[in-house]
Amino acid sequence: MYALKVPTATTTTSSVVMVGLLLMLVAAPPVLESITVWVVSAAVVLATLLGGPSRMLITELNTPLTSLGSLTFEVWYLGRCKTTGDLTACETFIPSATARWRRRMLRIVDVTKYFGRVRALESVTVRVDRGELVGLIGPNGSGKTTLINVITGYYEPNGGTVYLGDRKLTGMKPHEIAALGVARTFQVPRVFRSMTVMQNLMAALAYNREARKGAEERAEWLLGALGLSEKRDELASNLSGGQQRLLEIARALIVNPKVLLLDEPTAGLNPAVIETLRELLQRVKESGTAVLMVEHNMRVVSSFCDRVVAMNEGVIVAEGRPEEVLLNEAVIEAYLGR
Ligand SMILES: Nc1ncnc2c1ncn2[C@@H]1O[C@H](COP(=O)(O)OP(=O)(O)OP(=O)(O)O)[C@@H](O)[C@H]1O
Ligand SMILES: [Mg+2]
Repeated sequence: MYALKVPTATTTTSSVVMVGLLLMLVAAPPVLESITVWVVSAAVVLATLLGGPSRMLITELNTPLTSLGSLTFEVWYLGRCKTTGDLTACETFIPSATARWRRRMLRIVDVTKYFGRVRALESVTVRVDRGELVGLIGPNGSGKTTLINVITGYYEPNGGTVYLGDRKLTGMKPHEIAALGVARTFQVPRVFRSMTVMQNLMAALAYNREARKGAEERAEWLLGALGLSEKRDELASNLSGGQQRLLEIARALIVNPKVLLLDEPTAGLNPAVIETLRELLQRVKESGTAVLMVEHNMRVVSSFCDRVVAMNEGVIVAEGRPEEVLLNEAVIEAYLGR
């Protein structure tokens, strides 16, 4: 299999050139295969050099476009992107473009984290795709919060890598990771207590210019969806614990995140509010956001999650659909402390 990988390129003109060359490729007889490969490679370099406001991506290719003798060109993606090298912001796709590669959003690969001699995470690999809600469960001290802290750059791992799409997050600072569209909440809510609810939401836009567009309407919508509209001008310190948790979730969502990381979001919420949150997260998923949620309430895990990852003492002990994982023997034993 032949794969062509080009992170970014090009102007509209070179887009046309590239499409032309791909069409040539389809038509080319086998004898021309090496020449064709050469011409396409040269065109890619040319397109990259030209650069420009709109970008075209032809990347690692998977769905066969054409077969030339033993050589198979595969196309995963062809389209224009709003931001450099970022597939998630791309506007157009070849319809047959592959699914799985395009869906990938957050990947935690072989991550290990020690605090002195305490093993918080050992070779943890987790993937959360676009529009997927993955639950992270495990008894106290199993490493769930540590994993969120590693993803968001609060902790540097001893080994392993975290990716957002193709982009390596490991080594970046928390505010840089946040600016790329990774939003989080904390196990103990951290709101700005001396600011109003609305000011809290607006403060979240400091590191994210793109999200400022339409932010006020989005803020109103989020407050409405979470039942906080009447509190918009209230100081955050006057909110109940549950309301502060909801405010923190709204603050994470105001930036239209690509990845949302929630650390025990339903703790202290009553069942009606939990249902409201479930409906909101459904919308969040539909918008393409990848959600990783640490949760202790198994009823919530069953009703919210598409997939569940169970941890114990820093390692993953089970992974799969909620109904499977919650009945898994290793998971039950971990919770019973055997
Ligand atoms: N900053 C730190 N310094 C030292 N040890 C830490 C630190 N943070 C976490 N740990 C240790 O790492 C292990 C994993 O902790 P972590 O907070 O990730 O667990 P958790 O799964 O989130 O637990 P809980 O369900 O109680 O929130 C624990 O043994 C904990 O004591
Ligand atoms: Mg925790």
